[in-house]
Amino acid sequence: MRILLLGSGGREHAFAWKISQSPLCDELFIAPGNAGTSQHGRNVKLNPNDFKEIGSYCLFRKIEMVVVGPEDPLVRGIVDHFKNNANLQHIKVVGPSQEGAKLEGSKAYGKVFMAAQNIPTAAYKEFTPESLQEGLDYISMQTPPIVLKADGLAAGKGVVISPSIEEAKEELQQMLSGKFGAASEKVVIEQFLSGIEFSVFVLTDGKDYKVLPIAKDYKKIGEADTGLNTGGMGAISPPPFVDDEMMQKVDERIIQPTMIEIQSRGIDYKGFIFIGLISVDNEPYVIEYNCRMGDPETEVVLPRLKNDLVELLDSLFNGKLDDISIQLEPQTTATVMLVSGGYPEKYEKGKVMTGIESVENSIVFHAGTKNSEGNLVTNGGRVMALTSFGDDFKTAVAQSLENAEKVNFEGKYFRKDIGFDL
Ligand code: AMP
Ligand code: GLY
Repeated sequence: MRILLLGSGGREHAFAWKISQSPLCDELFIAPGNAGTSQHGRNVKLNPNDFKEIGSYCLFRKIEMVVVGPEDPLVRGIVDHFKNNANLQHIKVVGPSQEGAKLEGSKAYGKVFMAAQNIPTAAYKEFTPESLQEGLDYISMQTPPIVLKADGLAAGKGVVISPSIEEAKEELQQMLSGKFGAASEKVVIEQFLSGIEFSVFVLTDGKDYKVLPIAKDYKKIGEADTGLNTGGMGAISPPPFVDDEMMQKVDERIIQPTMIEIQSRGIDYKGFIFIGLISVDNEPYVIEYNCRMGDPETEVVLPRLKNDLVELLDSLFNGKLDDISIQLEPQTTATVMLVSGGYPEKYEKGKVMTGIESVENSIVFHAGTKNSEGNLVTNGGRVMALTSFGDDFKTAVAQSLENAEKVNFEGKYFRKDIGFDL
């Protein structure tokens, strides 16, 4: 099979690494990819959001399957674009339709979707500029902290947790007057849930589903989960506190009703559902849905998956998903992300990277890297994920940290405490 993978992060390097191991993959193209993905296929300078260009390239290269890494093309309707174009209909695009991608693209949609099946999640109300005063009154009645969420995609910055009623009111006013552009024309205000978070990944053809390895990511830039939110500084799979009993609750109360609601809405969904969960006194609640795999969770999930990924993805289109049993590596995986100094605020790119060849017993997943004039250089905030196996998460994290010291570039920063709260 000839496969095109869209995206350029650590998640996509992990996908490229796994896809290229499959005997079913004849040729892999990655658009636009990074220096790491080019070890497994051919990088192509294409914008994943330019569907016309992607479509033409698929025809030119006789692509049979497109795997969509990031949420943006899905929320913009890449699956529908291929389906509605007679020349492209035969190509299998892994990801939900635009309607399905609303689970991530609109927080309010996700809330209404969950309410329809009584899926446990934080109580909420939604507000628009017209209902600003009601929103302010609503905030006055809450007990802080107060969670405000821009309805649409806001590059991971759309969730604000206000420590006081006054700050929450100020935030609501700012959001509704365009702080996040169109994304915050609607705002969801919800109850603050206190507990420990984890992520569940489901692969579905819209009818059947398989649960992939669970993971926990670390989003804050600073140790002990302090400071600004990032795209993710590290991850562990599986988080030891998630036992079979918890997963049974997640399956019965969350995954199964999610599948029922997808079907009752007639949503075409052939792809990943990433369910962000929080365990409150051992009861699971949904924090959010995403319509794709997580980053850096993919860098710990795929190494634990023994199945042929291409066979799994292909089964979404031939009705065979139910026949496949998921085979997992029992060891724990951990990943530690190396980032550019200054990230997630201002940082410099183009720093020469050295020492990668001395990494031992970790898998190197490139994120923001590129090859330039014979050098490997940094090309983003999150630069490289180092994934290791261990008998427990501590051993796996220690292995990644040992290698994190060996990779060098000016301004390198990484968290040394991944798993500190487990
Ligand atoms: P999201 O962008 O939806 O992933 O939210 C970002 C982060 O905000 C989540 O990972 C949680 O840590 C936090 N968060 C979101 N919703 C809530 C909530 N209702 N209660 C507590 N924390 C939340
Ligand atoms: N690691 C969180 C995300 O991918 O959204």
